[in-house]
Amino acid sequence: MQTMLKVENVVKSFDGTGVLKGVSFTLDEGKVIVIVGPSGCGKSTLLRCINGLEQVDSGKIYLKDELISGRTRDMHLVRQKVGMVFQSYDLFPHMNVMQNLLLGPTKALRKNGEEVRREALAMLRRVGLEGKENALPRTLSGGQKQRVALVRAMLMHPELLLLDEITAALDPEMVSEVLNVVIDLARDGMTMAIVTHEMRFAEAVADQVLFLEDGMAAESGPPEQFFHHPQTERARRFLRSFSYESKNSRKEKQDE
Ligand SMILES: Nc1ncnc2c1ncn2[C@@H]1O[C@H](COP(=O)(O)OP(=O)(O)OP(=O)(O)O)[C@@H](O)[C@H]1O
Ligand SMILES: [Mg+2]
Repeated sequence: MQTMLKVENVVKSFDGTGVLKGVSFTLDEGKVIVIVGPSGCGKSTLLRCINGLEQVDSGKIYLKDELISGRTRDMHLVRQKVGMVFQSYDLFPHMNVMQNLLLGPTKALRKNGEEVRREALAMLRRVGLEGKENALPRTLSGGQKQRVALVRAMLMHPELLLLDEITAALDPEMVSEVLNVVIDLARDGMTMAIVTHEMRFAEAVADQVLFLEDGMAAESGPPEQFFHHPQTERARRFLRSFSYESKNSRKEKQDE
């Protein structure tokens, strides 16, 4: 299996304060890594370093075999191959859904508008937004806007998709409609690095979990291990703070 993303000993500080203190991981093509950890531990910074929004102080980041960190990186290539969706749906408010969706593929990738439109309509249908192509963003719910943001990212056909707490600003009843789209993308083989506080979703979607604390990988491993047999006290404490109960402990309670 081909390695899609390789993060090697990445160090990043802001104003002399270390935020990432040597983070490494590799992600194979078609796999999903979920990055969890307490607020301020550097999750967003890590994603921003991967897509070039932040410059690393040291360490290296490779997409397949191409170096995408450091001053020599080709930002054009990074933007084209690495998609990102944030917590706040950053759709252009004065453009309708379809105009928002067409912008990147037709301008940055110079694709044919009609082809992209057809693809966009098919994707909108798939995420349950058929008929919304002419709607303005402000007339959509948060969950609908976030699904549009996901479609917009996918229309660029990124090799890697980064998701930073994309449901954090949503009302609870809209969270699952968005997360189900992400689970669908994972099933389709989209390679993703996902930051989330939704532990059940994390467990469902992850092939690999990276637990960051204080800018370091405090623990990493398969979801089954991380969520049900965490190796470190820090991870156990973190999971308890979410009152995250393993399937087993829930079952034990029912049996009581
Ligand atoms: N551009 C910046 N300038 C200065 N400090 C920053 C900058 N971006 C992030 N930081 C600091 O880096 C640390 C890590 O921030 P980051 O946003 O990566 O955390 P996080 O793990 O994503 O947290 P959260 O779960 O709250 O989103 C924080 O202390 C933050 O204040
Ligand atoms: Mg963050």
